[in-house]
Amino acid sequence: MLSCKGLPVLTLGIETSCDETAVALLENGREVLADVVLTQVDVHQRFGGVVPEIASRNHLQQLWPCLDTALHKAQKTLAEVGLFAVTAGPGLQGALLVGVLAAKTLARTFGRPCIGVNHLEGHLLAIALAEECPQPPFLSLVVSGGHTHMFAVQALGRYAKVASTRDDAAGEAFDKVARLLGLPYPGGVAIDLLAQKGNPQAFRFPRALPGKSLYDFSFSGLKTAVAHTLAKGGIPSGQGLWDLCASFQEAVADVLTKKCVAAAQQLGFGALALGGGVAANSRLRALAAERAAAAGLQLYLPKPSLCTDNAAMIALAGYEAHMRGERSPLALDARPTWHLEDSLGA
Ligand code: KG4
Ligand code: ZN
Repeated sequence: MLSCKGLPVLTLGIETSCDETAVALLENGREVLADVVLTQVDVHQRFGGVVPEIASRNHLQQLWPCLDTALHKAQKTLAEVGLFAVTAGPGLQGALLVGVLAAKTLARTFGRPCIGVNHLEGHLLAIALAEECPQPPFLSLVVSGGHTHMFAVQALGRYAKVASTRDDAAGEAFDKVARLLGLPYPGGVAIDLLAQKGNPQAFRFPRALPGKSLYDFSFSGLKTAVAHTLAKGGIPSGQGLWDLCASFQEAVADVLTKKCVAAAQQLGFGALALGGGVAANSRLRALAAERAAAAGLQLYLPKPSLCTDNAAMIALAGYEAHMRGERSPLALDARPTWHLEDSLGA
């Protein structure tokens, strides 16, 4: 997957698109020297979700300590950085601005280029930091808190959207259902944990848009079905809660894996890669492995810490974009609604 193997560039990546402040240092586009993530989960937990204003303020406070820690871990100085890569979108405008302005300031100060990275491209390319990674063309499922998309990766920088969610993102469904159950934010982690002890067949939750050649997703009906179950029977505890979590999680994992495997087969891809926070889900990983193997598909899964938001994936995506000649203007700005397929290279 490396386009310019081993070119000696030290890339500093910055990620501030949502509620993680992250800085990473990457040698030659692949070797992670430091990958520091300061989460704000505690701050937002009592509101049941991310509060944009609070997120921006926390990024402002955390970014410089995060940067210091990363440089210290990597035993590098800012003067040694050859490229600054920063998430420019999509995400929360104020949160993105903190990272973009910091990266541009550092780049100007040290006379180095600064490149704006699409957050989804970061998730999509995180698999390249794994020991084994796919060669394009391959199919990629990016499942996060705000996005659920299938992309055909034709080459690095050339992505065509194959499908997406028509309503809630998969991570959003996890977070909303967790909220209904009185579980802490972010809901995916809590549900994943409780589901380990539950029976995934205990509740029969709906699978939306089941058509074999219909690749789009929909999760709002599933969330509503859980809400109806709770309205009838109240919030269960003990085994009942574990069963409900397992059954909900099964419905999400079932639909995601079924559709991806069908799309890969029907569109002629031999490999499938996953990325984004929900790709850390244990059941999704297991079912994807099972179904990909049954279909003769090669499956690539980043380790869980590279699925959730981090700056290593941003540094990597920025490095790759820089090496293929992409440049960001000095007027680089936050792009809260940046679609990955807008950046189709050729
Ligand atoms: O990629 P990410 O860290 O941030 C965004 O770009 O949105 O994804 C966060 C989402 C949240 O909705 C969170 O609940 C979900 O990923 N998530 C999980 C798990 N870990 C994080 N969902 C299911 N199972 C998990 N283990
Ligand atoms: Zn993300």
